[in-house]
Amino acid sequence: MTLLNLGCGQRFHPDWMNIDFVSHAPEVMAHDLTTGIPVPDNRADAVYHSHVLEHFSKSNGAAFIQECFRVLKPGGVLRVVVPDLEALALQYVQALNAFRQQPDAMNKANHTWATIEMIDQLVRTQSGGDMMAYWSQPQILNETTLEQRLGYEFTTWRKAYLQNQQASPVNNYRIKHASPSWRQRISMHWKNYWLHRWGIAASQLPDMLFQQSGEKHLWMYDAVSLQQLLEQQGFEAITQTDAFHSRIPQWNKYQMLDVEAGVVRKPDSLFMEALKPL
Ligand SMILES: C[S@@+](CC[C@H](N)C(=O)[O-])C[C@H]1O[C@@H](n2cnc3c(N)ncnc32)[C@H](O)[C@@H]1O
Repeated sequence: MTLLNLGCGQRFHPDWMNIDFVSHAPEVMAHDLTTGIPVPDNRADAVYHSHVLEHFSKSNGAAFIQECFRVLKPGGVLRVVVPDLEALALQYVQALNAFRQQPDAMNKANHTWATIEMIDQLVRTQSGGDMMAYWSQPQILNETTLEQRLGYEFTTWRKAYLQNQQASPVNNYRIKHASPSWRQRISMHWKNYWLHRWGIAASQLPDMLFQQSGEKHLWMYDAVSLQQLLEQQGFEAITQTDAFHSRIPQWNKYQMLDVEAGVVRKPDSLFMEALKPL
């Protein structure tokens, strides 16, 4: 079988063709998916991507789903996992109302977190953004809320972070102020020359690069809009599912993509599947 795991990050399986911007392991192929999927037409039995579609602009997202359609065999399965916009919005409104009714510290923390979870990844200009700052507090009052919302990803990060803090309580990250070498000066000169020719201010460059880094959310989906997108690209038999069930053959074997130690890896997710018509 040809199985494609697109934007795999650190979550990949050797039976799959795993693709990401950067290759973290020999099993992962480095490729920018906004340029298409490097696979011939009608080749794949299944295409899977988890928390990837929202990193494309709305139009690039539609082009990406069209690519998924192109590479799938007739009858092949597309499995899309994205953060669920509906669940995010509900959490936000519930937290807002709870705080209005009872303005205590816990409800305040839940409202602050719901706002960050909803907006931060759409607007951040630096890696980690406000979300990582919230996760890095010495004490997180509503840690249980975060555990329920984000599951394994948050709990593992937090555990490693706290262990690391204990191991080195003094922040020993140092900023190096070395003067640039002549090579760096020449490359800076050419960079500035080309930016000037393209009409881009040097100060805009970090933002432009970060925008394309794959970390920001450039669009988001709920069950209705994702279904519409899949229909528009020609998919049929579209269903909402969960981490444990799939029409991908031998899902028991590949469930590790969505499940960790028997629980859903990213509980904030919307899981949808669709078939390419025969
Ligand atoms: C939030 S992570 C999800 C990783 C993994 N699928 C998971 O569920 O844990 C998003 C991944 O998509 C990758 N990505 C985003 N845009 C990409 C692009 N244009 N081409 C290739 N990979 C991309 C990022 O590098 C990152 O590894």
